[in-house]
Amino acid sequence: MKSTVLDGYTLNPGDLDWSGLQSLADCSIFDRTLPEQVVQRAQGSEIVLTNKVVLSEAEMAALPGLRYIGVLATGVNVIDLDAARKRDIIVTNVPAYSTPSVAQHVFALMLELTRGVGRHSRLVHAGHWVNSPDFAFWDSPQIELAGQTVGLIGFGGIGQSVARIARAFDMRVLVHTRTPDPQGWPQVEFVSLDEVFSQADILSLHCPLTEDTDHLVNARRLAMMKPSAFLINTGRGPLIDEIALAKALDAEALAGAGLDVLSKEPPAADNPLLAAKNCLITPHLAWATRAARQRLMDTVVANVRAFLSGSPQNLVS
Ligand code: NAI
Repeated sequence: MKSTVLDGYTLNPGDLDWSGLQSLADCSIFDRTLPEQVVQRAQGSEIVLTNKVVLSEAEMAALPGLRYIGVLATGVNVIDLDAARKRDIIVTNVPAYSTPSVAQHVFALMLELTRGVGRHSRLVHAGHWVNSPDFAFWDSPQIELAGQTVGLIGFGGIGQSVARIARAFDMRVLVHTRTPDPQGWPQVEFVSLDEVFSQADILSLHCPLTEDTDHLVNARRLAMMKPSAFLINTGRGPLIDEIALAKALDAEALAGAGLDVLSKEPPAADNPLLAAKNCLITPHLAWATRAARQRLMDTVVANVRAFLSGSPQNLVS
């Protein structure tokens, strides 16, 4: 059976092994595929694997042999699920493989915002300590996490993992989520959206991007936040109105932000957040530890094996 990986590079830039997949099917693996190359590259394949390459009605119509689409990620918005259903094409995804890595990255951003390890190391290497009149110096407010209030919007796998780590730091944890279920969380307070914005010292976004959550963080809600507060986003870029956030940061109406995702990725050179005050940005890498990518690869292979055995798993369509 023939299979094609359309954009395998971010999952496996060379430090993992495609042999599990290659043992199951005759496999053509491409690092990246442009939209106009999809049909030619996937022609004759019953199995197509994609991370961010779009498979819409048009591609499916032009690939009559296609039986299975394996998404190399959790989000399946790149697939036209109605079109797949109409053609009896099975679609699977990989849930929850990156939860510990994303939670860790939330704290990497939070610790940089509150202690500035990277920032101070750069200053030391630039000679500032050698030339300091004192035995110690610091260039940004040094903030203790213990006793600070972290606000979480969304309380699924990642939100819960962040809450557990925050409790280990002795932080107060406020949660706003669509379906609150306080059972088993005695040390977490479930609150309204307004309360989470107005009370958080650090607000972290962990809800999916939907019509309801698009621009959830807008000028009105940013104005409700404490000027000393930090905003962290490892969810999805469009959760935030980026122009409003850049204005709030530049006006010092917010102390800082730590973002792993932007509304357009890679961003345009004129994205206002690239030049905004105290705005840390990482290039959508929260998921990308080797351990998480290995779990992703293992599940991708298991999904294909399950499809071939006639009992598909992790079905989304
Ligand atoms: P999940 O599906 O386990 O949890 C989502 C939570 O959001 C649930 O508690 C749900 O009830 C809540 N929610 C849904 N709509 C809401 C609304 N309108 N208001 C408030 N809460 C709402 O998802 P998980 O695994 O915790 O991931 C969260 C998000 O993190 C994902 O949707 C994805 O966008 C992002 N993500 C980012 C990664 C990165 O590398 N930066 C990697 C993996 C996920």
